[in-house]
Amino acid sequence: MKVGVLTGGGDCPGLNAVIRAAVRTVYNADGQTLGLLEGWRGAIEGNSIELTPESTDDIISRGGTILGSSRTNPYKNAEEVDRLLDAFKKLGLDALIAIGGDDTLTVASRLYADHSLPMIGVPKTIDNDLSSTDVTFGFDTSINIVMEAVDRLRTTAESHRRVMVVETMGRHAGWIAYFSGIATAADFILVPEIPVDLDRMCKLLQDRRAAGKPYGIVVVSEGATLSKEDGFVTQDTVVDDFGHVKLGGIGEVVADIIERRTGIETRFVTLGHLQRGGSPSAYDRVLGTRLGIHAAWLAIKQDYGKMVALRGTSIVNVPLSEAVGTLRTLNLEVMEEAQELFK
Ligand code: F6P
Repeated sequence: MKVGVLTGGGDCPGLNAVIRAAVRTVYNADGQTLGLLEGWRGAIEGNSIELTPESTDDIISRGGTILGSSRTNPYKNAEEVDRLLDAFKKLGLDALIAIGGDDTLTVASRLYADHSLPMIGVPKTIDNDLSSTDVTFGFDTSINIVMEAVDRLRTTAESHRRVMVVETMGRHAGWIAYFSGIATAADFILVPEIPVDLDRMCKLLQDRRAAGKPYGIVVVSEGATLSKEDGFVTQDTVVDDFGHVKLGGIGEVVADIIERRTGIETRFVTLGHLQRGGSPSAYDRVLGTRLGIHAAWLAIKQDYGKMVALRGTSIVNVPLSEAVGTLRTLNLEVMEEAQELFK
């Protein structure tokens, strides 16, 4: 048995844990694993390396992905799907494990549906926005990175009696902003799921200052949107292979609005790709490992067209076709209870 594995889309901490666990599990069943390099690009070009338990044993602590990644979409061009099918045959693969977010997994689902390609999916993203799994690995590391950064920003904010606005990633879901904001006792959190109330935010910052707290922390998700009057377009015009615009920039605008409306000196920090870099947390290593084992088991059982997912504390299998296409946004219930903290 020869199993291919690839990592597509934005990298995230924990990818190497999945690779390591899958390689070892396939090896235990007398199989061989090939790593396809740089996401779907490697699958199209048949660019691969052999992976062994020895070559992957110590990668669990490394961030990113040893296979490289890209946002390549073979479906952008029909010819590339043919090349991919061809490369799959030439490499002699019996199954392919695709580790990715919604874009990567949608390609996997289509290849399975259109060409019966023996696909298995593993969900990943720091954004935590995939609908069929309770949590995605990468998210835990990411919110801890943000938490550490905000803890540091707090001391300088306090020294200078400033407001610090921290922009987080997360695309159109507010998970990273919400969790890191709660973990750092932020004064206000702006997420895409809730219309931004700038008046309320500014009043709160002023009230807290008047009550004796001389500084403030605001966490804003890159996907949060402001009204037209506030004059900000969060989106770039450049789109990737999957048609997604690049987000970012709202932190600076929110900081400017706070300073103008409240008169409080305000600075902003965009944490950007720091949130995806570096060593994975223990939680992400364990979740990645469990998903890698279960994905390899599906390959061994020749049970294709499935994605492995976390439900409660168990790893389950769900049809790839049902696992993709729906964004899992922040649970409004948790945001509602948090309102106690923003009064
Ligand atoms: O999906 C993960 C993510 O980090 C988003 O939070 C962010 O908007 C995007 O990827 C950034 O992508 P890139 O690495 O292409 O700039």
